[in-house]
Amino acid sequence: MINIPKGTKDVLPNESYKWNEVERVVQTLRHRYNLHEIKTPMFEHTELFVRGVGNSTDIVNKEMYTFTDKGGRSITLKPEGTAGVVRSFIENSLFNEPLPLKLYYITPCFRYERPQAGRLRQHTQFGSEWFGCDSVEADAEILMLASDFYKSFGINPTVLINNLGCSECRKNYISALKEFFAPKIKDMCPDCAKRFETNPLRILDCKVEECKQINKSAPKISDYLCEDCKTRFEQLKTLLTKLGVNYKFDPMLVRGLDYYTNLIFEFVDEDKKLGQNALGGGGRYNNLVEELGGKPMPVVGFGIGIERLLLYLENKGIEVKNNQVLDVYVANATNNLEPIVKIVKLLRDNNISCEMNLSNRSLKAQFKYADKINAKNVLVIGDDELKQKKFTIKNLSEGKQTEIGEEDLIKYFKG
Ligand code: HAM
Repeated sequence: MINIPKGTKDVLPNESYKWNEVERVVQTLRHRYNLHEIKTPMFEHTELFVRGVGNSTDIVNKEMYTFTDKGGRSITLKPEGTAGVVRSFIENSLFNEPLPLKLYYITPCFRYERPQAGRLRQHTQFGSEWFGCDSVEADAEILMLASDFYKSFGINPTVLINNLGCSECRKNYISALKEFFAPKIKDMCPDCAKRFETNPLRILDCKVEECKQINKSAPKISDYLCEDCKTRFEQLKTLLTKLGVNYKFDPMLVRGLDYYTNLIFEFVDEDKKLGQNALGGGGRYNNLVEELGGKPMPVVGFGIGIERLLLYLENKGIEVKNNQVLDVYVANATNNLEPIVKIVKLLRDNNISCEMNLSNRSLKAQFKYADKINAKNVLVIGDDELKQKKFTIKNLSEGKQTEIGEEDLIKYFKG
């Protein structure tokens, strides 16, 4: 037998309803927030991620699924959704669309990580990227969108927020970090030694215990923000409080991708139900479009891990709504198939979900099957019923039987 590759998961029929519900929630939010879907390919030229996500990140250095195709090109399966969307925005001149342009996607992402609960080699993200809006209202609204998504599943996880400042603040901060780490870097891990040269901000994201200890006393970006960045961040906090977003300021928050400027955020599992801390994350990236060859364009966005969300709900004992309910099983007690098929069609044409006997089962076996698949009702059709144009409907959960004339059939189910 050939097994599934390590770090991947099948979505089986007994849980696919959860994914249908995620899609339904996303569609509701698409409508409420006027988002537009974008679909980009599963793979891109490797260079896009090296330049977009950043060559000092773990994603690019350690986790990408990269291969050479038959034409000799270096290709990478997308490790995240943002870079492809930005590439497409530039390539398709989407800056000519009325701005802001608020996009969303649901996409598989591929990262060669050590698999654990909530950490997969193929995971799925619901992401949203808002192009052409630099306002603090946009920052607040996109956090509202993510927060509304979680609330639709009955949870309200804390979102940690931090501000990386504008280029000017970050320049001063990075020199302060260099000064702080210079005498300590010899005691830190080899990855941090590299990060010190390429991007000292990344050191703050190190998971090695010794490095984490040193990082605790590192300078904080909040002490290096210019007046404009400070004011803006205060405005954001006020707005989030007014909007009821469950946020916490975390001056030590850093993100694993290089493109962020100003606001960064992460939705976290404070009850530690997940094993993995981050349920979702994002932030503002005002330089990426230009860095990838487009016009200067402010953008803010997020990515939410769907597998992590579902695992979190499961660990918390929260049920996901199951909309896949079978209204009626049409049990066949006659050899006269034609009227049965007609009734099934009539039911379906009226948007009533139904199944009929497809396996030549006895009436008893049909009832058993209907019970197993959680049909709400069984409609029995035999020769007598067809003659009298009257049917028996058995409500399986209530054990109640009702006689109904053919003309009232639809009314019965539609209530
Ligand atoms: P990220 O924080 O790398 O950000 O990933 C977003 C979310 O994807 C994480 O919070 C987590 O829920 C989920 N995730 C990431 N890696 C895995 C994994 N190996 N297994 C399961 N779930 C995972 C981004 O990818 C950015 N593109 C987000 C963004 C969009 N920023 C701005 N716009």
